Amino acid sequence: MNDNLHQLRCFGCGSRIAGAEARPDFRCAQCGELFEVEYPGWSQRGGHDRPNPGALKWLWRERRCSGEPLDESGVWRFRELLPILENFGNAVSLREGNTPLYRLPRAAKALGIDRIFAKHQGMNPTSSFKDTGMTAALSVAKERGFEWVACASTGNTSAAMAAYAARAGLRSLVLIPEGKIAWGKLSQAMDYGAVTYQLKADFDGCLNVLTEIVKQAPIYLLNSVNPYRLEGQKTPAFEIAEAMDWNVPDHLIVPGGNLGNSSALGKGFREMRELGLVARMPKISVIQAAGANPLVQSIAKSHGATLEPVEAHTRATAIRIGNPASWRKAAKVIEESGGWCLDVTEAEIAIAKAEIGAEGLGCEPASAVTLAGLKKLRAQGVVRPGETVVLVLTGHTLKDADYTIDFHRGALLTEDEKRGLETEIEALRRNAITLDATPAAVLAALEGQVG
Ligand code: F0G
Repeated sequence: MNDNLHQLRCFGCGSRIAGAEARPDFRCAQCGELFEVEYPGWSQRGGHDRPNPGALKWLWRERRCSGEPLDESGVWRFRELLPILENFGNAVSLREGNTPLYRLPRAAKALGIDRIFAKHQGMNPTSSFKDTGMTAALSVAKERGFEWVACASTGNTSAAMAAYAARAGLRSLVLIPEGKIAWGKLSQAMDYGAVTYQLKADFDGCLNVLTEIVKQAPIYLLNSVNPYRLEGQKTPAFEIAEAMDWNVPDHLIVPGGNLGNSSALGKGFREMRELGLVARMPKISVIQAAGANPLVQSIAKSHGATLEPVEAHTRATAIRIGNPASWRKAAKVIEESGGWCLDVTEAEIAIAKAEIGAEGLGCEPASAVTLAGLKKLRAQGVVRPGETVVLVLTGHTLKDADYTIDFHRGALLTEDEKRGLETEIEALRRNAITLDATPAAVLAALEGQVG
């Protein structure tokens, strides 16, 4: 392991250890907090290991034309900013990253904002943003000689882990909350050959069980408490800046669950600023579901100094998390970037998801909190018309097809949840209607649609 290039720094007490010294649960032996990866060579200006911004921009662009597997990865293309492997030949890649940055013209028009983009992380190999982190951390597991890897998951982490483990020839163990994950995700874990156990617990309970297991068995933990996951997940920040010619958007809006992703993207922008690749950070806002909003409560009650776990409820099962592991890191990102943290209701999520669908993109429910949150930030006047906004869409629409079908059939939301929003919801619904198999029947039904 390239411990001379990277080390782990405790986010709580600041103590530093070599990567290989991390305990199996990735918690600090002194204070119990999480670590983050740090690159000591970058801190000295003009220092030997400090990357040169101009050279990096050129190199990364060149690699887009390369046919080398590592260069074709939108994560490892940026490997100068993630020197976490002794040998990059150990990288396990499925050509993740390089995801599209789409414009959302209808949302922009409706909200009176010039430029709204969606960074669609659902366009990754297993259809969620987890692939960017998994390629990084699973490659570390492989390099360190582990035979088993494991995660607790609301579905996407397990799908990504199972795929990358299969590619690397490792065995994988998945713990999921029984009955509380979308079928598309469960089917992926099975398809890629993971050993999957459904526990009678929520996500937080599954992670607690797994934390004990990795202390007793030689299994490598791949939840986002693992700091190498966040190194991979910071790379979409590089892609966004590159796509904007090394300018950054005014706002970046991210869904919040276990809060690893917002932490990682914040780290990516922070590092780019520190290395002189970009001049500033975007304002990073984290949006949670109202029924799973521990960070919103933490910031409201204590400015992010303490967090009380909540019992989480939301149909956006990916972010049904009451005790997020990376909350301190996310709170710091919001604070240092000048962003906001707010929550949105079940009906607001469903409407935003249908609107993203109607732009021809689609996403899973947890991703739609970003647009729902942007609407609130716009209404509050904190996002202004001339600003540029990037929404991070974290998962593909096919991850949770049941949710979409229930919405369009009118079976998703309760009357209480819909109250006051009925017209908006009806205008978005597209139910599949059953007709007689005759041209006349189809033409007659179509008549009502034309106009
Ligand atoms: N969006 C999707 C689609 C997710 O799957 C997750 C998390 C999030 C947002 C939240 O990201 O946890 O980094 O704040 N899914 C995890 C999982 C917990 O197990 O797949 P976060």
